[in-house]
Parts: sequence; structure tokens; C-alpha cells
Amino acid sequence: MIIELKNLEKINIYAFQNDLISWFKQEQRDLPWRKNQDPYKIWVSEIMLQQTRVDTVIPYFNRFIEWFPTIEDLAKAEEDKVLKAWEGLGYYSRVRNLQSAVQEVSEKYNGEVPNTPEEIAGLKGVGPYTAGAILSIAYGIPEPAVDGNVMRVISRVLSIWDDIAKSSSRKIFEKAVRQLISHDDPSSFNQALMELGALICTPTSPACLLCPVRDHCQAFDEGVQNELPIKTKKTKTRDVQLAAAILLDENKKVLIHKRPSTGLLANLWEFPNVEIHHPLQEDREQISESFQSLLDVNIKLERIIGQIQHTFSHLVWNIMVYSGTINSSFQESEEWKLVSFEEMKEFAFPVSSQKMIKLFHEYQME
Ligand code: ADE
Repeated sequence: MIIELKNLEKINIYAFQNDLISWFKQEQRDLPWRKNQDPYKIWVSEIMLQQTRVDTVIPYFNRFIEWFPTIEDLAKAEEDKVLKAWEGLGYYSRVRNLQSAVQEVSEKYNGEVPNTPEEIAGLKGVGPYTAGAILSIAYGIPEPAVDGNVMRVISRVLSIWDDIAKSSSRKIFEKAVRQLISHDDPSSFNQALMELGALICTPTSPACLLCPVRDHCQAFDEGVQNELPIKTKKTKTRDVQLAAAILLDENKKVLIHKRPSTGLLANLWEFPNVEIHHPLQEDREQISESFQSLLDVNIKLERIIGQIQHTFSHLVWNIMVYSGTINSSFQESEEWKLVSFEEMKEFAFPVSSQKMIKLFHEYQME
């Protein structure tokens, strides 16, 4: 840590801040969360932008703010509607935590997002990055907001060779940003680092010739910009084989299931599915029996209508998709419902289920 931060002595901090912020003011993208400094909107945008690209986030952000314009609106919203607003964005615990945190702000802080690092970091789902982003962008407080993009930029500017995949490295980068950050305009400074990481200082082939801080960049000076940052590969994902079925009753209603309230895709809806433990050995008969014991009704699997692969951060689902019918009466409950395709639009499904719906419609067109 001491060795790397020696490199701070080589940089002219004021010139660096100036070049970075001037560039940002001229070149920044026109993004919906940059229209004002409402801490709630900044917060929503920063939660959405974790693990999700800006282009994907924009329409989700606009709709979310339309549905839940204020902290109070989100605090009192039905969880189903909140999940529907997030449908397709992935990492759904982000929005469940966001709603809990907003409820806490509503109750404990009179609906005002707190503006101290201690209080804000105590909110559910608000880690050091989000805390720093809200404090600097909404409140102008000089706190670092270090995510993967910022670590990449800083690792190059200061030639820091620590592995950014290690969680312990964040502290090194936070320390560096604490030294570098502009106290006149912490908001522009932090956003400029993010913007530079998105537009110029990209993971591969950084556009150094267009870079506003090239003259300050130690990696460029040493010709090692393509070797930085050091980022070791994460552990491999696990493969899970599933069979899932779109089962229709005699009224063309489809059976859907609400997932448990904890764990992967908590509280989202899905089509009934079973895990296949021995894909090469299990045949349709066995898969059919698994469904039968899951559902406790008389069902018939008809055709395999396709195969879907869906990748999560730690596992991959390989889903064999069946169509079929329900041939006895079905008792609906909180977790099991029969709905028309039209009604289905009101429920929040993960991307894998949406892919299945698409497959089913394509198959019916044939
Ligand atoms: N990535 C994370 N936060 C961002 C922001 N506020 N603007 C653009 N990209 C971002």
C-alpha cells in the first residue's frame, strides 16, 4: 500500500483535477439522473448502475421514477410492483434492499436521505461505493466512490498493480481517491472518473490519444496501460440442468409459481420446474414423474419446445423447456396461480422465464 501510493507524489493533483473536470463538463453524456441533484434519484440510478450498463439502465430508470417519483411512493409501494419495475435488470435483491432502505429513510429520517457517511452506509444495500456516490453527487461531500471502473482508471493513472478482484484492494483505491478528489467539486470529480472509465479508459484498447489526463497517467508514461488493471479471474460458475414446463389448463390458463422469499430470484414468478440430476439417464418418463410429485395434479408433458441457457454470476441454468397440459382441477394458492397470457404481464418474471414465453409463442406460430 505504501509503495503504490508513493506514486501520488509524482502527480500534480490540481492540474489533474482541472483537466479531468474540464473534460467532464464538456463531454459528459446527457443522462436522466444528471438532470438534478435529488438524492433519491441519484440513489436509484447508482443501484441500477451496479452490474448493469448505462444504455440498459436509462429506460428502466425513467419508468421507475415515473412509477415511484418520491421516497414515500417507493416506501409504500407493493413489492410485486417494485419487482415488476425491475423485471429483466437482474440482481433483484438490489431493489428489495432499496425498498427496505427507503422505508427506513421514511421512518427514521423523515423522508430525507441522510448526508453523513455513517448514517448513509447503515442503510440496507448501501455499500461504500453507493454511499460515496450519493454523498458526492447529491450533497457535494468529498467522499470516494470506488467501483470497478474507477479502480481501472486509478490503477492506470497511478500505476497500481494490486489485484482489483480482491476485496481488500478497494481500500487502496479509496485512499488514493481521497488524496486526489477535488474539494471544490467532488460531484464532477467522481462522475468524471466514472465517465472516463466508460468512454476513454475502457477495459481493452483504452483511447489514450483522446484522454484528457494522459499527461498525468503513469501507466501511459510507462507504456503499460494495456497490462493494467490486474484482475484475476473469478471462480468458475456451476452448471445446473433443469426441466421447466408451460402447462395449460382447458381454459388456456398457464400455471405459474412464486419463488421463495429468500435466495436466488426471491419472490419472482416462474414456470414450474424440476432439477435434472443425471441429464444423460433421466428420460421423459422420469421428468414427468418429478413434475407430477411437484404439482400433485394430473399433467401431461407434450413436446420439448426448446432449450434455454441463462447465466447468473455464480451459476448457469440449462433449461429444457416443455409444453404440456393440466388434466385435473388445480387448487390455486398464494404461490401457485393459473393466469392467462394477458394477465401474466402483471407479474414479474426473470429473464429465463421471458425467454420461455417467447419460445412458446414462436412454437405456437409454427
Ligand atoms: N456508473 C456508475 N455510476 C454512474 C453515473 N452516475 N453515471 C454514469 N455511469 C455510472
